[in-house]
Amino acid sequence: MAMTMLKMMTPPPASSMPSLTPTPPMPQIRTIPGTHGLPLIGPLSDRLDYFWFQGPETFFRKRMEKYKSTVFRTNIPPAFPFFPSVNPNVIAVLDCKSFSHLFDMDLVDKKNVLVGDFMPSVSFTGNIRVSVYLDPSESKHALVKNFATDILKRSSGIWASEFVSNLDVMWNTIEKDITSKGSASFPVPLQRCIFRFLIKCLVGADTSNSPEIADNGFAMLDAWLALQLLPTVKIGILQPLEEIFLHSFAYPFFLVKGSYQKLYDFVKKEGREVIERGETQFQLGEEETIHNLLFVLGFNAFGGFSVFLPSLITTLGSGKTGLQDKLRQEVREKVGSSSLGFDSVREMELVQSFVYETLRYNPPVPLQFARARKDFILSSYDSSYEIKKGELLCGYQLLAMRDPKVFDEPETFQPERFTKEKGQQLLNYLYWSNGPQTGSPSTSNKQCAAKDHVVVTACLFLADLFLRYDSFTTDGSSITAVEKAK
Ligand code: HEM
Repeated sequence: MAMTMLKMMTPPPASSMPSLTPTPPMPQIRTIPGTHGLPLIGPLSDRLDYFWFQGPETFFRKRMEKYKSTVFRTNIPPAFPFFPSVNPNVIAVLDCKSFSHLFDMDLVDKKNVLVGDFMPSVSFTGNIRVSVYLDPSESKHALVKNFATDILKRSSGIWASEFVSNLDVMWNTIEKDITSKGSASFPVPLQRCIFRFLIKCLVGADTSNSPEIADNGFAMLDAWLALQLLPTVKIGILQPLEEIFLHSFAYPFFLVKGSYQKLYDFVKKEGREVIERGETQFQLGEEETIHNLLFVLGFNAFGGFSVFLPSLITTLGSGKTGLQDKLRQEVREKVGSSSLGFDSVREMELVQSFVYETLRYNPPVPLQFARARKDFILSSYDSSYEIKKGELLCGYQLLAMRDPKVFDEPETFQPERFTKEKGQQLLNYLYWSNGPQTGSPSTSNKQCAAKDHVVVTACLFLADLFLRYDSFTTDGSSITAVEKAK
């Protein structure tokens, strides 16, 4: 059923979403259901629902059911009282077809809308609008994106080996904790591992040159990230304290100024070669290069992996009968006597499918925003809607990735979903990277520059794990047991 619907879909943009059948006629134009409510009261009530009474998933689900539509008007925090210049009014798009308009740069503008109409202060990034806030129509976007792509390309030779050797350190720490305490909390060892690996691959530096950065660099990034994103993220601490203290105003940069400066100085000193390339090959100034490099390192890469890898670990460790056995078997068969690397994981169909399914089921960056560049008609399956220039579209990945017209049994985690030919077709509708998995990041779109690196890194994580252990179990954010490979 879902596959039949999938074949009837012709979502834009035509370049990245291959049309499988002739274009069907445009569905009937309908008024966008939903409301932004009364000024102040509507946004405040939606904010309380979003953070407190419902939580993001229920917030979107309830409205989708109420309006019997995957496209509707609502408000997204932050809002009221201390965000006077933020307009929380959005049009939510929650199915694969309407969501895909967010990737069409002819229709939408991505300037300053990474987390909605609210934009964290540029003081967090040296008073520079870094990569993710730039629209492809701005000439700087191409320079900065090419710079990010260049860093990734140049680190390809050491990416896998650096990752695996940092995983070594992580698993040793975890094993020691399990032996002494019976279980091991994994977030800190994992973040240390991600941090050191990324510093080496993206900056070309070794954290051992600065004990303070080696020990605390990851925590400095956590604090810097948290202050920028707090007004937009549900933490889950006691209410109404969260609403009063975390969601009512933006925290100032000066609280993390000292630690950001330490990271800046470290990158400036230890990342000379990369910085020179930014200046000479990509016409970026020195400061501009360092702030962009720190942003890609700290926000995109460290932030992204810090969300995604834990979800990979807990999905696997919470135990789906027989799954670990199948994955272990595939990993050991494909690696054989060769060493683990990009080539060997590319042959692991089930491992890759497991990674894709985790990205579908639990997209690490759940919200994407884009502003209408002009008036246009947005189509969903059975209706079309008039969008006015300047209106803000808000895509909620979690529900778009559970679109029953595309994915069979969308609410079920199916590790083999992306295997075989049907699985390859479905990659056209896997959107975690702000574009289809079959698309390519470029200077004319806003797809994640590291789209392929992220998948391959997650595959390496799983493959390394199953070369090391026969099985492992988790309980929340703790690893409770590992059985060493016999
Ligand atoms: C699990 C890890 C990651 C996830 C989930 C992720 C996700 C994303 C998403 C959703 C966007 C689009 C944001 C938007 O415009 O709405 C994005 C953009 C971007 N990502 Fe990633 N990312 C990850 C890792 C990385 C890494 C390792 C790099 C390192 C180079 C990177 C570099 C970028 C850049 C430069 C952009 C901006 C693209 C542009 O301006 O056109 N990302 N990422």
